[in-house]
Amino acid sequence: MRKKIVAGNWKMNKNLAETEALLSDLKSKLGNISGTQIIVAPTFVNLQKANEELTQVNIDVAAQNMHQSENGAFTGEISADMLNNIGVDTVILGHSERRAYFGETDALLAQKVDTALTHNMTIIFCFGEELQDRKSENHFAVVENQLKNGLFHIDTNAWKNIVLAYEPVWAIGTGETASPEQAQEMHAFIRSAIAKAYDQTIADEVSILYGGSVKPNNAEEIFAKQDVDGGLIGGAALDAESFTAIANAL
Ligand code: 13P
Repeated sequence: MRKKIVAGNWKMNKNLAETEALLSDLKSKLGNISGTQIIVAPTFVNLQKANEELTQVNIDVAAQNMHQSENGAFTGEISADMLNNIGVDTVILGHSERRAYFGETDALLAQKVDTALTHNMTIIFCFGEELQDRKSENHFAVVENQLKNGLFHIDTNAWKNIVLAYEPVWAIGTGETASPEQAQEMHAFIRSAIAKAYDQTIADEVSILYGGSVKPNNAEEIFAKQDVDGGLIGGAALDAESFTAIANAL
């Protein structure tokens, strides 16, 4: 059975003091939640702190990115081993901001995926079309290509380490969310693409999160859709009350 997941991508927000305050709030509000996996992804410099703070509760920690190489002369980068070594075994890869601002291509992401899998990490793999793709009705083809080129090379048995996050770029940080029907339509399409490339069981088992302006007032109707297994939350994850309301809407 696929997991229900609500993950908070904090992006480049929250210093150490703010991180501690938010974690403390989240611990008391969501620490005992059952039936839904809660994940938070603070900045790299606070990952270790977050993992220490959350050891006793049901909230997991993810990194927002990771380098594809094992180690070496890559100034400013973070390796899978460094993450594993501080107890972080989940990583977000392919976020549209990484693709748009840091030039991450499908080919690069395929390498990052392989490295993360070598370290037995769980990958929250993000993808989604831009506004012009949707306007030109190319959104299904764009999404299928992102999956084919970045992810569909993995072995069948690696799918247990994969969580998908469909994040239409036009809905990220814009306040404009995909309608529940648009989200459902795309999530069903993603499952059909996986069934075509692999098999129906894998397609049925993988959790597919929706991301893009999920807020307390729209989460429930999006999460109610059959193929939406949760959300990847940006702005609303920075506030304990909003994030808790979203988590409780699943
Ligand atoms: P917003 O929820 O702020 O639109 O961000 C979504 C996102 O990019 C999560 O990764």
